[in-house]
Amino acid sequence: MASKKAKKSIIIVPKGMHDILPDEQPLWDKIRKVTKETADFYNFSKIETPILERVELFERSLGETSDVIEKQILVVRGKGGDSLALRPEGTAPIARAYIENGLSRLGQPLKLYYEGPMFRHEQPQAGRFRQFHQIGFEIISNDSDPIYDAQVIITSYRLLQDLKIKELNLQLNSIGCAKCRPVFRKKLLEYYSSKEKSLCGDCRRRLRLNPLRLLDCKNENCIVLKKESPSILDTICYDCKKHLKKVLEFLEEVKLPYTLNQYLVRGLDYYSKTVFEIFTEGSGLALAAGGRYDYLLEMLGKYAPGVGAAIGFERLVEIIKSRGINLVGRPKPKVFLIHIGDLAKVKALSLIETLRESGLDVLESLGKESLRAQLKAADKAGSVLSLIFGQQEAFEQSIIIRDMKTGAQETVPLKKVADALKRRMK
Ligand code: HAM
Repeated sequence: MASKKAKKSIIIVPKGMHDILPDEQPLWDKIRKVTKETADFYNFSKIETPILERVELFERSLGETSDVIEKQILVVRGKGGDSLALRPEGTAPIARAYIENGLSRLGQPLKLYYEGPMFRHEQPQAGRFRQFHQIGFEIISNDSDPIYDAQVIITSYRLLQDLKIKELNLQLNSIGCAKCRPVFRKKLLEYYSSKEKSLCGDCRRRLRLNPLRLLDCKNENCIVLKKESPSILDTICYDCKKHLKKVLEFLEEVKLPYTLNQYLVRGLDYYSKTVFEIFTEGSGLALAAGGRYDYLLEMLGKYAPGVGAAIGFERLVEIIKSRGINLVGRPKPKVFLIHIGDLAKVKALSLIETLRESGLDVLESLGKESLRAQLKAADKAGSVLSLIFGQQEAFEQSIIIRDMKTGAQETVPLKKVADALKRRMK
């Protein structure tokens, strides 16, 4: 027999992961429903990809020096010796699925959305988990029209608004293209070369591997140094500037407020040109984030520029709960069926099916026998009406409708019970 201590350590969810319990499901369902409505409105079709993908897919697309690949990728080793990664994000799998399934045949641009669990071996803290869920939007096309950047931003922003999240703050930047980013990289290296000693350990490493990430460091010394660093917006090429200007013009057209943040860079390497994050008041963590990825699909084998965003589901839930936003509303009133005796218990089963065919929601506790216990359960469920089905009623093909508030009761023929309930529930 397992010891008490051993048993205890089994009954614990893995670090950074959590259960989504029955009482939380209505909110999760509602968020999914609003997501579908928003996605349908903006013409995004749903796509699902496997939770496991080849490790190399992420290594090649997210960047070998990105935090996700260096420290956070979770790998599952099969018995045959092959290694698969638990997906840390949804964009690379969609790029893979786009190429593999020849999705360009579905038209240009192709707008896709998805929702599901992602995995990163992070240090768990508020708003940062090892298993979390994302809602994502991607637009893949054969050209990199800035209208698509605006459409992805508008869709993500509107979804947050549809979820009644206010005080949104959209931060935007351009990180340039293959032509102008090396110029900026050189400028950064020149600027930091004499300051290496003042940088934190992580940044000293980044300086060699991925200097753009220096702009993202939260270390106090590094923040001070960053303030004097060269501006990416002054360095990007004419095409990138034109692209950014167009995106801003489109956002202004729909009066979507934004802040240009020249220090905004992203943790994944596949981005080019537009990058953005959406925050809400009082939260240091981004609710949504994304950007353009003109080279991602090309790196994987097919030229097709794209742009997308992902929203953190858990972060949404946390904001909605902490702000007391009422999204779910009151549940539809339900009728509670109470039975007394064996005959009524049997007949109750077909009665439930009849009520279902009439479009009525019905609750029961057929496993309980005492009237008191069943009335208590009806009360607890907040039922406004209950049906009392006793031995005599089962013989006479009738049933009692009881108003749970007033206690008033009426006996009706079994055949007419659905109509009688509908009348009362109005
Ligand atoms: P990301 O910034 O890594 O981008 O994640 C997007 C969002 O997912 C974050 O803003 C946050 O809300 C949520 N998130 C990320 N990591 C965690 C975590 N450990 N715990 C809880 N929530 C988290 C991407 O994943 C890109 N694929 C977004 C994208 C789509 N870019 C283009 N298309």
